[in-house]
Amino acid sequence: MKALVLAGGLGSRLRPFSHTMPKQLIPIANKPVIEHVMDNLRAIGVREVGMIVGNRREELESKLGDGSALGVDITYIQQDEPLGLAHCVLIARDFLADDDFVMYLGDNMLIDGIEEIADEFRTTRPTAQVVVHKVADPRAFGVAEVDENGRVRQLVEKPSEPRSDLAVIGVYFFTPAVHTAVERITPSARGELEITDAIQWLVAEGMDVRARIYSGFWKDTGRVEEVLDCNRELLDRLTATVRGEVDEQSQMVGAVVVEEGARVLRSRIVGPAIIGAGSLVEDSTVGPHTTIGEDCLLRGAGIGYSILLDGASVDNVRGVHGSVIGREASVASAERNRLVVGDHSSIEVPA
Ligand code: DAU
Repeated sequence: MKALVLAGGLGSRLRPFSHTMPKQLIPIANKPVIEHVMDNLRAIGVREVGMIVGNRREELESKLGDGSALGVDITYIQQDEPLGLAHCVLIARDFLADDDFVMYLGDNMLIDGIEEIADEFRTTRPTAQVVVHKVADPRAFGVAEVDENGRVRQLVEKPSEPRSDLAVIGVYFFTPAVHTAVERITPSARGELEITDAIQWLVAEGMDVRARIYSGFWKDTGRVEEVLDCNRELLDRLTATVRGEVDEQSQMVGAVVVEEGARVLRSRIVGPAIIGAGSLVEDSTVGPHTTIGEDCLLRGAGIGYSILLDGASVDNVRGVHGSVIGREASVASAERNRLVVGDHSSIEVPA
């Protein structure tokens, strides 16, 4: 089985980060989302990965290269405009040839792995198999209506009045029959060739389309809140390891990882938390559920339930919570509020 990983698109809901990096490279527990995706693919024995890339191709290629460091073999497939998920299948035709494949949205995190659902597809081999997850409000997703035997009756993309609570999540298993379906559909109201429409076409043709419920932890990391939520969930599975330096005046509580070359001085770190390689934490309180990237500087800082990307700094500011601070960004205290804030950023301070 091959994989088609989708890492194009605009990522507009993840601004300002997506102005400067593809959303698939946002780190969660100090590892880019797309690398978590590769881990799941490797675990089901997939080696050949076709990766759809758009205008952020360069950054993705320089981070992932040919995939060998991650145990996969990546072929990059250029998509000039984000014309939809089914369009990705269309342009990957040569790469996919007549093999079965798993299509994986590069911003979806399925923390509990996909082994069982992949095994089910391999043993039953329906025409297509979608993966669904019960959600409170499915209106932002594809929604599946499924019969008691797990057969899909109907699929609708982002319905205003959903007919079930089963959201279609970003992992799809296909046999080559999908190639006919993506050729037959037309663009949706939002101007995209929707994969939901292609699958619905298979259903309407009477083909065997199955849904498998995934009850593990899943998030589409399209928004900052979801990125933080995922970070919390991954950190909850952390095992304490100290490879860096922690002085005697510091206190470590719970599962804390201090990576190589990191230094913690006169600080209190409440796990689960990660202090990234080469970072310096002085006279600060960090955690719980906080990931500090590489080469960050925290001095007199108080920060919890947050993510600092590489090279960020917090100097003499306490009470930082639910925050994501970008690469090389600095947060410091001053006599007055002085803000240099990039496009589409958001700052919330006590009234
Ligand atoms: O996350 C699950 C949802 O993903 C499903 O419930 C929906 O049925 C499905 O349509 C999709 O909805 P989104 O609106 O969230 O998709 P988004 O535009 O965020 O794209 C998902 C991924 O695919 C993302 O990593 C970007 C990439 N992509 C997207 C488009 C439209 C491409 O590579 N090319 C594209 O043309």
